[in-house]
Amino acid sequence: MQASATEADFAAWMGATQGRVEAALARCLPGAQHSPARLHAAMRYAVLEGGKRVRPLLTFAAGELVGAEARRLESAAAAVELIHAYSLVHDDMPCMDDDVLRRGKPTVHVEYDQATALLVGDALQTLAFQLLAEQPLADDPRLQLEMVRTLALAAGSRGMAGGQAIDLESTGKTLSQTELEFMHLRKTGALISAAVKLGALCAGACPAALEQYAHRVGLAFQVVDDVLDAEASTATLGKTAGKDSRQGKPTYVSAMGIAHARHLADELRRGAHAALAALDERALRLRQLADFIVLRKF
Ligand code: IPE
Ligand code: IPE
Ligand code: MG
Ligand code: MG
Ligand code: MG
Repeated sequence: MQASATEADFAAWMGATQGRVEAALARCLPGAQHSPARLHAAMRYAVLEGGKRVRPLLTFAAGELVGAEARRLESAAAAVELIHAYSLVHDDMPCMDDDVLRRGKPTVHVEYDQATALLVGDALQTLAFQLLAEQPLADDPRLQLEMVRTLALAAGSRGMAGGQAIDLESTGKTLSQTELEFMHLRKTGALISAAVKLGALCAGACPAALEQYAHRVGLAFQVVDDVLDAEASTATLGKTAGKDSRQGKPTYVSAMGIAHARHLADELRRGAHAALAALDERALRLRQLADFIVLRKF
């Protein structure tokens, strides 16, 4: 009884937060009536009405823990989601993973064309930084600059883009667990860590416990993505299942098998909870999100 009431409460919080983020994203994206109409339509196609919005949920959960204003969190969460959406558009292109399905729809380069997909990524990335620069996110402008820097580091060659480069150059190779962790922490973990950090920075500072939590859920997220690619169906995922092994991607599943990868993800989930041990019930949403990230089915 108690467990299901807690689950319903989490589902309600998640739905309400996803709704806020969807509205913020719809507001910041240029309308498709504005020229260049095709690019703007494709940007909206790539971002709106899709995805779990895990990174924005983490931004809100971290921000709510430290008492950040919701308006600030909306902008920070939208900025992170724009970078994520851009990374998916490029990840799916023929020169990268060559995927035709994303979030249950044809990928951007299939629905539009490759040049448009490239430009959608470029434009979503710059829109993210525009948001961080023009929205009031902090009382101290130096803190707002720190937020811009945080997202830039997470998205760049020492973060997501670097992780993607390692992913591409590792295709067909076997990586050690240390090398896999290095790649996953960059291609996926870096942006997840930035999502948490930016939420906390909306209230002034990011506690070390949150950084540790984010590091663990960030790695767990990609370990579970690897497991779901091997275990779940295309219909459930809304993206092509089974492609990692077909493309010879080194993953936690190829390195240690599904059962061990799941076990590792659960260890990371418990590690994320441990990082929050000193925090009171205000960390409830972060705890629930760690569980959601590891126990999700899609
Ligand atoms: C998929 O991310 C790509 C990875 C970084 C593993 P998500 O699983 O968060 O994708 P959406 O946003 O829900 O579609
Ligand atoms: C993608 O990892 C990571 C980024 C987009 C940065 P994957 O290639 O495993 O993501 P999916 O499985 O296509 O969503
Ligand atoms: Mg990829
Ligand atoms: Mg991919
Ligand atoms: Mg994957």
